Amino acid sequence: MLEWLKEPGFYGTHATIGADLSQSMAALFTVLFVIGWFQARRVRGHPHHWLMLGGMTAMIVFFTSYYLFRQLGVLAFEGKEGFGGPEALYENVFVPLLTFHITLVTIGLVMAIYMIVLGFRVQVIQGGRRVLKEMALRTTWRKVITIFGVITAIVVAYLLFLVGVDRFGVGKLVVWLSLLVLIAIVFSLEMVIQRIWPNGARRHRMLGRFTMIIYCVLFVTGSATYTMLYILYPGKIG
Ligand code: HEM
Repeated sequence: MLEWLKEPGFYGTHATIGADLSQSMAALFTVLFVIGWFQARRVRGHPHHWLMLGGMTAMIVFFTSYYLFRQLGVLAFEGKEGFGGPEALYENVFVPLLTFHITLVTIGLVMAIYMIVLGFRVQVIQGGRRVLKEMALRTTWRKVITIFGVITAIVVAYLLFLVGVDRFGVGKLVVWLSLLVLIAIVFSLEMVIQRIWPNGARRHRMLGRFTMIIYCVLFVTGSATYTMLYILYPGKIG
């Protein structure tokens, strides 16, 4: 499978099948989310719900398995050797662009999960229609700390399991601790955001727009990276 992903791609550029597949899926997901956004704007809750829930879940499953498969190699593999352009362009344009892209990917993944949870918490079915409840939706610190405690307990249990089967490593510890820190940051941000928009429906609309803008920018930065690596300045492929 890994070898197949490294074969020449299907768009006739210098990309591999893996990179072409990733770019095609990014285009497909962006189109799905934009259609889902328009459905929400037209007050069509059901199609919006299914497009967002299905699209976001498929996106998370595809990109995490794909990048884990490639051992998260974007900067490492395609960095210096993958980029065939001038050094100054690499340092001043390519690396900042890729770093910006990866930062947006992280925010986009967190927002996908957050928005789905928020969607379920704020929606109601009224006369067969799926709509947002116009009411205050506040989470208490007590609830947030309990949820965080449960997640931490699961992570600790998993790490102890890894120690038990002799597969524990410092790298894994760092990844799981970073995940816990990220969740703690998101929970703290949520406590601030719910003060700004106490109305759950309004919060879903405002953060939903923010998330959609992130996805559109993500597609642009991802496509720019693809164009630089595989069309304009191809280097070592793979
Ligand atoms: C990442 C996922 C999601 C994003 C980015 C998102 C984004 C949005 C946006 C931007 C709006 C407001 C549109 C506008 O008026 O401009 C909206 C409305 C809405 N969303 Fe979501 N949403 C997501 C997931 C969900 C989920 C999972 C549900 C249901 C469980 C849901 C239910 C709704 C409903 C019912 C509306 C109201 C439509 C209306 O105005 O009646 N959303 N969403």
